[in-house]
This record gives sequence, structure tokens and C-alpha cells, in this order.
Amino acid sequence: MRRERRKVVGAEPVGPYTLLRVEQGGLDAGIPGQFFMLEAPGRVLPRPMSVCLADAGELVFLIDPIGPGTRALCQLSQRDSLHVLGPLGNGFDLDVDRPLLVGGGIGIAPLPFLSQRLGRPPAILGFRSEHHAEAAALLPGAEVCIEPTYVTTLLPEERHDVLACGPEPMLAALRTLVPDAQLAWEAPMACGYGACYGCAVELDGELRRLCVEGPVLAGAA
Ligand code: FES
Repeated sequence: MRRERRKVVGAEPVGPYTLLRVEQGGLDAGIPGQFFMLEAPGRVLPRPMSVCLADAGELVFLIDPIGPGTRALCQLSQRDSLHVLGPLGNGFDLDVDRPLLVGGGIGIAPLPFLSQRLGRPPAILGFRSEHHAEAAALLPGAEVCIEPTYVTTLLPEERHDVLACGPEPMLAALRTLVPDAQLAWEAPMACGYGACYGCAVELDGELRRLCVEGPVLAGAA
């Protein structure tokens, strides 16, 4: 894990999201599902982001501008640099026989990198609108649905090793339908390395710090 100042290579809109491209330099891209803390200049709190793509000397992050911190990251341009700390947390277990990627909304962020590492397995994605679904272009060949259709309705009948990231209700539904699914949970994170408990969530009556125990947890864990 390293904290480094890195130059922004570019920022492009993808539907309502922004694809932020950062010089990789000596940073290890990590395992898909791990995350980096990104700190926009002048912002106090860094934001956790999983790597969306690691290509050609760049780390690429898909960001949803939902608050001041994420909006500041989306507004960065080639003139800027930012602090990057990572890779942090636990990523997906890539030792799977029959992977199926499942993503919902901004939860598709780690899936292009995961798909690259797993040799482009099938993927099913759910979005809240056509505009949000423009991000499906990051995973060519994925099957896509838009609300009110939910991504769980696209689950094939035959058994797959499900690797998923998305909003909590989607992950909760998957835990029931596919008990051994690997699920990447989202949580607000202040430190990113276990010190603040800002990311603690209650799962089956137990408090889990997602930054150190997750973000990827086995569904039945
Ligand atoms: Fe601080 Fe997890 S983000 S303990």
C-alpha cells in the first residue's frame, strides 16, 4: 500500500458518471475489488474507489458525483494531480470455475477490471435509467436491464460462481438466491485501513469493518 501524488490523465463522462484516468506510476493496481482512497486537492476527506480499468500505465476509476467529495474528483482535469492511497482491502477471489459478473448502478465500477482478469466471462447488469445504463459500454457483451426490471431476474438457471457489486438491496437479494456469491459491499470510508470504524456494517448481527474485512465478502460469510 502506498500513498502517492499522481497526475490526472483525463476525465470523461459516461452517462451520469465520470471516468477518471490517473497516471499509474509505481502503484500496484491490486486485485479487482480492492480499492484506493482518492483525495481531490483541497478536500479533507478522501473517497474510496475501486479500480475500473488498469491499462497502459493508467489507473481508471468510475465515479458517481453524488456529493461534494466525489463531485470534486469528477471535476479534475489534466492540469491537476491528486493523492492516491492503495490498493486497500480484500478483492475478489479469482480462483473460480464458471464466473458470472453481476453489477448494479455504480457498482459496475470494479467489473471491467475483474472481467479483464477473468478472461471476459458473461455479465449481467442492472441500472435505474437508460442514461445510467450508458456505463454498460465498459463491459461489452453484458446483458443489461433497466428498472423496474431487476438484475436478479437475469440470473441464469445453471450454476455459476457469482461475483457481484451493487447497491445493498441487490446484494441482499443475491445472498438469498446465490448463498456462495462473492459480494463487494459499498460503505462510506474515512480512513480506509481499519482505524475509524466509519465503514462498519452489521451483517448477520456482527459488525464488520468493510475496509479491512471487505469490501468483498463471501455471501454466506
Ligand atoms: Fe476507517 Fe474502515 S474506513 S475503519
